[in-house]
Amino acid sequence: MYQEEKLKELSSKFQIYGHFLHAEPCKIGHINETYTVTYNQGGTNVRYVHQKLNVSVFKDPDAVMENIMRITTHIRSKLESQNVDDVTRKALIVVPTRNNEPYYKNHHQECWRAFVFIEDAETFEAALYPKQAYQAGKAFGTFQSLLSDLPGKRLNETIPDFHNTRKRFTTLQSAIQEDRFNRAKSAEKEIEFALKHEPIVDVLLKAHSNGKIPERITHNDTKFNNVMLDIKTGEQMCVVDLDTVMPGLVLYDFGDMVRTTTSPTLEDELDLSKVKMRMPMFQSLARGYIEATQSFLTKAEKSFLAFSGKLITFTIGIRFLTDYLMGDIYFRVHRPNHNLDRCRTQFKLVESIEEQEDKMQKFVDSI
Ligand SMILES: Nc1ncnc2c1ncn2[C@@H]1O[C@H](COP(=O)(O)OP(=O)(O)O)[C@@H](O)[C@H]1O
Ligand SMILES: [Mg+2]
Repeated sequence: MYQEEKLKELSSKFQIYGHFLHAEPCKIGHINETYTVTYNQGGTNVRYVHQKLNVSVFKDPDAVMENIMRITTHIRSKLESQNVDDVTRKALIVVPTRNNEPYYKNHHQECWRAFVFIEDAETFEAALYPKQAYQAGKAFGTFQSLLSDLPGKRLNETIPDFHNTRKRFTTLQSAIQEDRFNRAKSAEKEIEFALKHEPIVDVLLKAHSNGKIPERITHNDTKFNNVMLDIKTGEQMCVVDLDTVMPGLVLYDFGDMVRTTTSPTLEDELDLSKVKMRMPMFQSLARGYIEATQSFLTKAEKSFLAFSGKLITFTIGIRFLTDYLMGDIYFRVHRPNHNLDRCRTQFKLVESIEEQEDKMQKFVDSI
């Protein structure tokens, strides 16, 4: 198999001192190309992850990898100094190349990196039980907390303006205006919904620029499928997918957790009647998150937790809508109207959050 040949060739570039045995693609994940690779190392089978960085999304691989090296090293040494057991499953470990670079660029200009494979852990596309939502909140809360004292300069912004909801909104407005693919007609209701929600666009941006909430180090892709859970106990081990870790607001992370863990459906569910913000899931998520962040989370940040769910779900919704209108250039589509379907799911969830927002915030305040 061609890919296997390529991975085999690649494998000799990293500081992995084993004999390549075989490789399988990892099914979960939408942005990068991820493989599980098995080596014979000193007579025993050892696995690593080889992953091709998506350079059309992350245009500056050096900046991405510089961040990832700093983050993973910091987390690991912190856990080690706390004498935490099982550190190599609780901190993602980058295996450098034999030239001591954080990634390898092959002659096709592809950027590949290697990670220690986290054994006996699994990821799921969606959270099924409140217990899992609790673990998700705890995982990303712990991650933020571990990075709250990262020394050195500000992290690189791996995707500029990633958080700028206003900019996303403006991009949507021009996509509607241009309507290059003649798709606006089929998304009339969604466009109306999006435009009507303009007042929420600047709320967190303003709170930040007024100094009400601080910039911190955030994960920025807090989907449940980025949480590694121990197969036996179901407890969170660590979070993966660190390409988007950069300076941000904790609310963006929490909001995306609400979006991805509280609805029983996938983000492209066609049956909208199934799309719903489930209160028990939210409560567990919020509890896990607040418990893990109590050392630093401020009252002001806490006061936006419920709102953040709505805002982030809305923001992703308008990104799907924009991509649909612009001809599906960012999100990989697997069927016609896929991005429009994704947008509809998000907007349905926004409505469901709106109906329950007061109750959600009351719960947060009670913790
Ligand atoms: N170090 C690792 N050990 C075990 N599995 C991993 C590891 N890193 C990633 N994975 C698996 O691969 C999936 C995709 O990786 P991820 O970094 O999230 O890529 P993407 O950006 O494509 O989502 C993860 O959801 C997880 O299941
Ligand atoms: Mg991922």
